[in-house]
Amino acid sequence: MTRRARLRLAALALLFAVSLLLAWRVLPRFGGVHGEASVIQASIPVSSPVQNQKDLPNVPLRSLAAQRNIHIGAAVQMEPFRSDATYRALLAKEFNNLIPENVMKFGHIQSERDRYDFVDADALVAFAQQHQMQVHGTALVWYRNLPKWLTDRPWTREELLLILRQHIYTVVSRFRGQVNSWDVVNESVSPDGESLRSSIWLEGIGPEYIGLAFRWAHEADPAARLFYNDYRGEGLGKKSDRIYQLLKELKQDNIPIHGVGLQMHVGIDEPPNFAELKTNMQRLNDLGLEVKITEMDVQIMDGIGSQADKLAAQASIYRNVLRVCLQVPNCTGLSTWGVADPFSWIRLVNHRPDSPLLFDDSYRRKPAYSAMQQILKSAD
Ligand code: G3I
Repeated sequence: MTRRARLRLAALALLFAVSLLLAWRVLPRFGGVHGEASVIQASIPVSSPVQNQKDLPNVPLRSLAAQRNIHIGAAVQMEPFRSDATYRALLAKEFNNLIPENVMKFGHIQSERDRYDFVDADALVAFAQQHQMQVHGTALVWYRNLPKWLTDRPWTREELLLILRQHIYTVVSRFRGQVNSWDVVNESVSPDGESLRSSIWLEGIGPEYIGLAFRWAHEADPAARLFYNDYRGEGLGKKSDRIYQLLKELKQDNIPIHGVGLQMHVGIDEPPNFAELKTNMQRLNDLGLEVKITEMDVQIMDGIGSQADKLAAQASIYRNVLRVCLQVPNCTGLSTWGVADPFSWIRLVNHRPDSPLLFDDSYRRKPAYSAMQQILKSAD
C-alpha cells in the first residue's frame, strides 16, 4: 500500500472516531418517563438540566413510599388525564394516591340543582382502582367553586341544611368504599386566623355547619377517613392556632374527624419553618389526628440565583417536608398539587410561568424528585 493510501486510511479512521465521539456527547441522553431514551420535544422548554439519572435507580416514588408506610400522591387535571397517555403512565407509575383536582367539587359535580355529574370523577376512581391507588376526594364543603343556582338567590337555614346534607350524602354514598378519604371541609378559617371564614354556609347555617358536614359524611361512609383541609396553617402562628382550636373543639364534641390536610403551597422565597411544621404535626397527633401534606407545590420564579440554584432550593424544601412527615407517627403521606409543571394551577389559573412540581415540561424528573427518592431510601 502506498504511503498516500496509508495516510488517507488513517485520516478516515480519525474522522470516524471523531464523529462517534460527537454523536455520544451531543445527542441528548436522559431517561424518559419509563427510563427509555426519548427525544426532547424542541417546542417545549426543558426547565432544567436534570441530574444524570443513570445513577438514580428508577425505583418509583410510590414503591419507596410504600416501604415507609406512607403514600405519595398527585392532584389530577382532567384535560391531560384524558388526552395524554404519558401523563397517565407517569401518574400510575410514580403515585399511589390520586386527588381529583376539581371534578369532585360542588360546582363541578352539582352544577345544576339535583343533577349530579359523576362522569369525570368516575373515570379517575376507576383509574385509581386499576392502578392500586388510594383516592382522596376534595372538597365536600368549601366557600369557593359553588354553582350559580346556589349563590344567585337567598336561602333559609333549613333550605341550606337540606342542600348541604343532600350533597354530602349523594356524593359520599356514590363513592362509598372507593374514596379512602375526603376533605370534608376546606379552608373554613379566615386567612388572618381571627375567625371562621365568611361563606354561604357560615352566614346561612352558622358555625355548626362544620360539625354537621363531618357527621353526614361519616353516616354516608363510616369507613372513609374524614379531613379538615387548609393552607398557611402548616407551621405555628395565628391561623395554625385557630385551626388547632377548631379541631380540638370538634374532637371534644365527638365529631367524626380523623385527620388534617396541610396544603403546603409554598415557594423558595418563602420556605416553611420545618421545626414549626414538626411541632404542629405533633400537637395534632396529640389530638388523635392523622396528618397529610395534601397540595404541595414549591414556586421558584420569585427566588434568586440561577435556574439550577432555584431547583436545588426547591429540592431542599421537598426533601425537608418529606423528612418531617417521616419523623412523626401521624403523617401518612405527601401529595403534590399536580403531576407535572405544565399542569400546575399556578400556570393554568394564576398564569405564572413557574415550575413548582416534581416533573418538568417534558415529564423529566427534577432535582426535587431525586431528593424525595433519596430521603425515602435513607434511614433518617
Ligand atoms: O375546565 C374549565 C375550562 O373548560 C375553561 O375553558 C376554563 C376557563 O374558564 O376554566 C376551566 O375550569 C377551571 C378549573 O380550575 C380547571 O382548570 C376553573 O375556571 C378554575 O376556577 C379552576 O381553578 C381551580 C381552583 O382550585 C378553584 O376550584 C384550580 O384548578 C385548582 O388547582 C384550585 O385548587 C385549590 C384547592 O382546591 C384548594 N386549595 C387551594 C388550591 C389552589 O387554589
